[in-house]
Order: sequence, then C-alpha cells, then structure tokens
Amino acid sequence: MPIQLESPRLILDEVTAQDVHAIHRYASDPEVVRYQNWGPNTFQQTEEFVQQVLQWQYENPRRYYVLAIRKKGQQRMLGAVSLEIDEQLPYAAFGFSLARDMWGQGFATEAALRLITHVEERMPLTRLTASCDCRNVASQKVLRKCGFKSMGVIHQHMMLRDGMRDTMLFELPLRAAAAAASS
Ligand SMILES: CC(C)(COP(=O)(O)OP(=O)(O)OC[C@H]1O[C@@H](n2cnc3c(N)ncnc32)[C@H](O)[C@@H]1OP(=O)(O)O)[C@@H](O)C(=O)NCCC(=O)NCCS
Repeated sequence: MPIQLESPRLILDEVTAQDVHAIHRYASDPEVVRYQNWGPNTFQQTEEFVQQVLQWQYENPRRYYVLAIRKKGQQRMLGAVSLEIDEQLPYAAFGFSLARDMWGQGFATEAALRLITHVEERMPLTRLTASCDCRNVASQKVLRKCGFKSMGVIHQHMMLRDGMRDTMLFELPLRAAAAAASS
C-alpha cells in the first residue's frame, strides 16, 4: 500500500522517478552529507538510489521506507524521512535529510513526528533507533524533540571524508508497545 501522510504544513508520500532531480539537489550538497558516510552524490549515484527506493516500494514484506517530504500544494521534494525495519526484531532505524534551503523551519521535526505517529498507529514495531555524528547538533535536536533518548556514544565508529566519526545512538520505545508491556 503506498503511504501518504499529512501534517499541518507537509505531505509525506512515496518517492517517484520524477523526484530524482530534487533528491540530487540535496544529496550532492556537501553540507547536507557532511556527517554521513555517503555522498556528495554524482548524478548516477542518485539515479541508482532512486531506482533502489522504487524497488523497495514493491517488496513484500516491505523493509525499507523512504518517504518524500513536500510542502502542501507543492510537488518539489524537500527531503526525506526513512525507516529500515530490522530483519529479526520489531525495530526500525529512523533517518531524515532535508535540502539546505529548508533547514531551521521545523520541517524535519514535523515530518519525523508524523512518521512516528504512523508507525505507532499502523506498524507492529516496538522501538525506533537512530544514530548520528556527535557533531550533528541539528539532528540530535530533532531526535530529542521527537522523544528519542540518547543511549551513548560509539567512539571512532565510522570513517567519514574528514576522518573518523563518533556516533551517538538514540532509541524511542513506541507508546503502544510500552502501554502493552505495562498492562
Ligand atoms: C538534521 C536536519 C534534518 C534538521 O532539519 P531542520 O528542518 O532544520 O530541523 P528542525 O528545524 O525541525 O530542528 C532543528 C533544530 O536544530 C537547531 N539547529 C539547526 N542547526 C544547528 C546547529 N548547527 N547547531 C545547533 N542547533 C542547530 C535548530 O535551531 C532547531 O532547534 P530548535 O527547534 O530548538 O530551534 C537538517 O539539518 C539536515 O538535513 N541535515 C543534513 C542531513 C542530516 O544530518 N540528517 C540527519 C542524519 S542523522
């Protein structure tokens, strides 16, 4: 089932082949990928990513969700929120990215909260996990505003373009799961 979610200012829906240019705009921006172990993308890398995302939409059961973030009434994709469901456990890794000209307006938090509500209402998951570079203050703020708690740091965890990255780990036990566990 294709997903389409609405929040006060945003629509979150499935990525289409037409989104490749908008995705490339932010995936090729060195500032956007500064704390990531991928990018800045070549156009070919973005095309391959989009092909992969389109294939994931048809998997059954579906493990990977990359949802486009769009402003209501506008087609342009501003960024994405994502879920990667664990193969064995009822957990999913949560992520988000936004084009640089859209930062600082609360869009990532709004999109993330909407996806979390959807997960709580519709998916049999008990926990979301997330991780980010310890220097990525904006990402940590978004996660904390969504209720994620920091679980600690893995030092020297990942090689980035400017050296090794210390990674902060986060988790969010899901409300429905927590309520069931305590009843
Ligand atoms: C992380 C990201 C998605 C945040 O998007 P956003 O829409 O700007 O986030 P929001 O506006 O919802 O919230 C960001 C918060 O961080 C703050 N912030 C932004 N940049 C900051 C910085 N460099 N230092 C400290 N705080 C910062 C904002 O003021 C805001 O806090 P506030 O609500 O207390 O005012 C965006 O910066 C991004 O796409 N970064 C590149 C990709 C990335 O790092 N993704 C996460 C990977 S784990």
